[in-house]
Amino acid sequence: MITCHCNIITEAEIEQTIVAMFDKDRWQLIVPAKVYHALEKGGKCYRCFTNVVDIIIQTSDACHARFDTPDADMISYRAKLLQLRDNYTGDLHEGQRQDTRAA
Ligand code: FES
Repeated sequence: MITCHCNIITEAEIEQTIVAMFDKDRWQLIVPAKVYHALEKGGKCYRCFTNVVDIIIQTSDACHARFDTPDADMISYRAKLLQLRDNYTGDLHEGQRQDTRAA
């Protein structure tokens, strides 16, 4: 399924990129721009970023389950991810100026 229509990036490509990033450092905070940088792409309209954050959350849960990370160790990390999602569901998006809203 296509997640980013501007760059033609699939959900599977995003998941694979996130898994590779977690394999290098399971505690890094992954944001959409970091994923797109790894894919050598860039945000254009940023409409997909909220969905990318949801994919980051789902994939991080799956990765940490694979790593057998204790639930107590996940609390602050998950809080950061939920804060990140709140940031992307607001009016401003990463790199997007307030006066450049899509019609
Ligand atoms: S849909 Fe992803 S940048 Fe536009």
